[in-house]
Amino acid sequence: MAANLRQLTIDDYDAVINLWLGAGLPIKPKGRDSRPMMAKEMARDYCAYFGLYDDDLMVGVGIANYDGRRGWINRVAIDPDRRGERLARLIITACEEFLKGLGSVVNCALIEEINSPSISCFQNAGYHHEPVILYFTSRSSPDA
Ligand SMILES: CC(C)(COP(=O)(O)OP(=O)(O)OC[C@H]1O[C@@H](n2cnc3c(N)ncnc32)[C@H](O)[C@@H]1OP(=O)(O)O)[C@@H](O)C(=O)NCCC(=O)NCCS
Repeated sequence: MAANLRQLTIDDYDAVINLWLGAGLPIKPKGRDSRPMMAKEMARDYCAYFGLYDDDLMVGVGIANYDGRRGWINRVAIDPDRRGERLARLIITACEEFLKGLGSVVNCALIEEINSPSISCFQNAGYHHEPVILYFTSRSSPDA
């Protein structure tokens, strides 16, 4: 595989959305996954989208962002035809390097408890499950 990992721009928007959809991740096209919102997100110094390309085909994607206290790795997805090749690890490593450059000393990922491939993937990358934490949200709208 001629793997090519790079930071994405809004020009990669369609490929990112298609990869997320193909990977089975839900998207919020009227909210944070709209093109304008994603363009703003990508323009922030503390946020980076990384994409893994096999020639011209995007086969992996993930987002790193630093909140000033913790680093977060979000929305990692690998093309279903390319699972089990440890490709997500390449995305995670790119995110970690970006977050380290911003000064992050704690990196985190939120994973649904039924998502065993993702749990394995992050555990294999050295992440520890913190079972006492519950996830609470406040959304400006259901589409946000
Ligand atoms: C989670 C995900 C990114 C892992 O990507 P990956 O590159 O396949 O990761 P790995 O190769 O390290 O495999 C991780 C685990 O996936 C499972 N797996 C292995 N081969 C697989 C395959 N062909 N198909 C599905 N799952 C597979 C295994 O449980 C593996 O863990 P193990 O090696 O300890 O047995 C990928 O499964 C994916 O895109 N899932 C859908 C999107 C998603 O849920 N993202 C995470 C949001 S938190």
